[in-house]
Amino acid sequence: MTRSSAPGKVYLFGEHAVVYGEPAVPCAIERRARVRVDQRSDGRLRVHAEDLTLDGFTVEYGRRDDGPDVNVSESLVAAAMGYVDGAIEQVRAVTGEPDVGFDVTIESDIPLGAGLGSSAAVVVAAIDAATRELGVTLETAELADRAFRTEYEVQEGQASRADTFCVTAGGAVRVEGEACRRLEAPDLPLVIGFDGGAGETGQLVAGVRALREEYGFAADTVEAIGDVVREGESALADGDLEELGRLMNFNHGLLSALGVSARSLDDMVWAARDAGAYGAKLTGAGGGGCIVALDPTEATETALKYTPGCEETFRAALADEGVKRLE
Ligand code: MEV
Repeated sequence: MTRSSAPGKVYLFGEHAVVYGEPAVPCAIERRARVRVDQRSDGRLRVHAEDLTLDGFTVEYGRRDDGPDVNVSESLVAAAMGYVDGAIEQVRAVTGEPDVGFDVTIESDIPLGAGLGSSAAVVVAAIDAATRELGVTLETAELADRAFRTEYEVQEGQASRADTFCVTAGGAVRVEGEACRRLEAPDLPLVIGFDGGAGETGQLVAGVRALREEYGFAADTVEAIGDVVREGESALADGDLEELGRLMNFNHGLLSALGVSARSLDDMVWAARDAGAYGAKLTGAGGGGCIVALDPTEATETALKYTPGCEETFRAALADEGVKRLE
């Protein structure tokens, strides 16, 4: 039995634009996915996920061509299983054990598809635990790369390295194309608002791609996000919360222009701003899910509690450690 965990993440700046080679700055937060792996002798893959959804599910897989045997919605299973299945394929490839099987148990306090990096955290923790179960310990760069390949395949080529590198390495990171590194960052007063929903990352990324191809000004908007990120990096290095907040507001406006916000996200962003937050923006693919605000006081959390459409609000500490090897 081997266990690993990986944190969730929020984007301070740069989601979507990072897919087209602009820089992005996500940072890991102390909400984790924990994955336990036990090798099986029969080559099958069995996944039990307690908290990925409200009800949890168990699914038993044979090799790829056997159908899963489950009693929950197929799209739900397909979404969650796609990532786990892809992660185990990477494990089989990197360890040179094509027929190895596992029992995989997932516990997560990161809501699925809500912009907090749940899929990246599950994939990173699963690859790390399953490779170690076979006696192979991957370096950070290799682990992040294998996790990226998993997301890239599951999301049909529409993924950057940002989520997977961030949750592997921990802390605040900068990702631009293949260049990934950690940044010095103070512990930021991050407040999250969650609308209880989720966005379809693939569809949202495809929507931005289509806009960018159709309109020069949409392509300029993507580039403008890159400019905001570069300014944001200096503000982060200086620990200048006021400037960070202003730039987060700007970034949200540009994402809205690209069509990836939602009424619930805009309502939460405005509630945070009205409460006096330094700034607020959606985080991740958008369409629904979470916003992130900067506020050292309790005002934003209180305001979000009373915002229709906000189902949950919480403070998130920066997770300095990325993947954790539990045993
Ligand atoms: C999703 O968490 C972030 C996107 O930029 C897609 C990606 O970078 O893979 C929308």
